[in-house]
Amino acid sequence: MNKQVKKYYDLNTPIFIKIGRSSASANIHRAVWGEEVSNEEEAMTYVNKVILDEIEAISTGEPLKILDLGCGVGAPIFYMAKRVRQEAKFTGVSISGVQIDYAKKFHQREHADANCEFIEADFHELPELPPQDLIFLVEAFIHSHNPEKLLQGIQNCLKPGGKLIICDDFLNPDNSINEGSKKFLKDFIQGWQVGSLWQVQKIKATAEKYGLTMTKNTDLTPYLNLWTLRDKIAHFFLYFYKLLPVKSTYWESILGGDSLQKCLINGLINYRFLVFIKNQER
Ligand SMILES: C[S@@+](CC[C@H](N)C(=O)[O-])C[C@H]1O[C@@H](n2cnc3c(N)ncnc32)[C@H](O)[C@@H]1O
Repeated sequence: MNKQVKKYYDLNTPIFIKIGRSSASANIHRAVWGEEVSNEEEAMTYVNKVILDEIEAISTGEPLKILDLGCGVGAPIFYMAKRVRQEAKFTGVSISGVQIDYAKKFHQREHADANCEFIEADFHELPELPPQDLIFLVEAFIHSHNPEKLLQGIQNCLKPGGKLIICDDFLNPDNSINEGSKKFLKDFIQGWQVGSLWQVQKIKATAEKYGLTMTKNTDLTPYLNLWTLRDKIAHFFLYFYKLLPVKSTYWESILGGDSLQKCLINGLINYRFLVFIKNQER
């Protein structure tokens, strides 16, 4: 169990969903201004929509089982459960008990029709679950301190032919890392509780070992609205935060986000949408 990540989300989640980008939709991920997106709400749910398209492309004729690893407060699941045209049962897993309490409360109060359940667990030690048709991780893979174990667990939990979707930040191999870049990467890794910052090539090769073949690799970085007025204001306040003798979990996350912006703008990191298919013979 990664206690640091758990503490980070237990402490920050109430703030994340009250102020800032996540407050309107409760999605704890980035706004993506993809094709046909015309407002902030659509940008905040763009990744959910693309995952939903991947769910709809599955045709087993049976009720689907979908697993969200690192489910936040359940917002992506509620979005998909409301719109999915096939019968589907969603399960959300988060290491943060605070997030799971929020997700259960939102389910009961605002999304009672959604066919879903929420479990507090570490995704490296998944509880017994029925075989899944699709497993997705949105901005959660990066927190893994042992991605190999995570991928092995996912492989065990997926049906043959099932899909794995990972939307997250990956190191760009084409960029040389100078001293300035090292500082941005260090602040990002520390501030955001990053456990693994991999190149796409590495996850492709590791997943392959576990019978998961990469079939899609889309760079969503061009669709991120970077260095907005909100980001500039946060950057301004960080100047004063850095002078303080005390550290705050929330402001460390703002510092991590600020450094991530620099990494994305400088091409050190790409925000990618990856799809893998589990081989039939496994
Ligand atoms: C940036 S948030 C994304 C939340 C959600 N996917 C969304 O898009 O709203 C990262 C999520 O990963 C979860 N997480 C990180 N490490 C985890 C672990 N080892 N086991 C389970 N969940 C984990 C956090 O609790 C949090 O829910």
